[in-house]
Amino acid sequence: MGKDKVHIFDTTLRDGEQVPGCKLDTKQKLVIAERLDELGVDIIEAGFPISSPGDFNSVSEIAKLVKNATVCGLTRSVRKDIEVAAEAIKSAKKPRIHTGIGTSDSHITHKFKSNREDILERAVAAVKYAKSFVEDVEFYAEDAGRTDNDYLARVCEAVIKAGATVLNIPDTTGYCLPEEYGAKMKYLKENVKGIEKAILSCHCHNDLGLATANSISGVINGARQIECTINGIGERAGNTSLEEVVMIMRQHPYLNLDTNINSKLLYDTSLMVSDKMGMVVQPNKAIVGSNAFAHSSGIHQDGVIKNRETYEIMDPHDVGVNESSIVLTARSGRAALAYRAKNVGYELTKNQLDVVYENFLKFADRKKEILDTDIHKIVETSNISISTFT
Ligand code: KIV
Ligand code: ZN
Repeated sequence: MGKDKVHIFDTTLRDGEQVPGCKLDTKQKLVIAERLDELGVDIIEAGFPISSPGDFNSVSEIAKLVKNATVCGLTRSVRKDIEVAAEAIKSAKKPRIHTGIGTSDSHITHKFKSNREDILERAVAAVKYAKSFVEDVEFYAEDAGRTDNDYLARVCEAVIKAGATVLNIPDTTGYCLPEEYGAKMKYLKENVKGIEKAILSCHCHNDLGLATANSISGVINGARQIECTINGIGERAGNTSLEEVVMIMRQHPYLNLDTNINSKLLYDTSLMVSDKMGMVVQPNKAIVGSNAFAHSSGIHQDGVIKNRETYEIMDPHDVGVNESSIVLTARSGRAALAYRAKNVGYELTKNQLDVVYENFLKFADRKKEILDTDIHKIVETSNISISTFT
């Protein structure tokens, strides 16, 4: 049986771009949008068109440029927002309006100073209005993570009746536990009349470091879309990281879930977004961090040199990384030194390696990392006669 497809909704250019200091101009957004399309994302959330003329222009240009993906514009449940978004995405081959409203009691009371019935009516009216412009309307129930499940189910049922094709269940504050978020999806699957007409979508924030776990729990429990960003960038602690959810589904085939993503472009796309946004990727970031396939302790290095799978659950080539790296530090062993020395042209006998290794440790205690140029110096000052093969 074929795997169930999980749609990847990329919001790097909308939620991702809300990071302070990461503002992109239209030209930069177009380059990223083109790459996201090539990467195979299903939906590109290109921006929030009412927010500024610049954002309107970016969404509109992206809508003209993108060949395969759906292009989506965000709105509040406000008629003017919806009209402006509809105008911005009108040239898209596959346009989508993403409209919604806060549904938690906290949002209803403090943000809207309203009540549940009024919010439900506003949600329905927004979906109906968006539907008058485009067929594909996604509804978000902001702060769904902290919304009472019975009320959330009522809102979902009403907006499906009004024409919503996708139901976004955001954990806006990153508060949920994976079991809780998964249970919410299951509850909606089991209690919303007409749910088979809509796709449930995960939109998780990373305030407690659970965005990826929550999204995976969501799809295990019936959601079929994940909203995410390259490198997990986004408001505060960020959004679900695209590369993480994609590779989790690939590396766990028994989940029977997959995406259209060409994973070989993940690393390069990560570098591109990091460069354009001026936002450094933490070295220990899963999948795309500079240390994700680097081994530095002697025991691990020895294992990886004997068989990569001893300490790697993924082939780096699958995510576009050329090879695993064996980093030489004072914690490295003889196997790693012999391996790296061989790479730069020295085939060391066992006795030679013993001598060079002693010299190496003295260098390594003075330096954080031993580079190829250092290896030459170490071998040459080791007082052994040696032939190189380069
Ligand atoms: O986190 C959130 O709730 C959002 C919505 C606007 C979709 O980004
Ligand atoms: Zn968000």
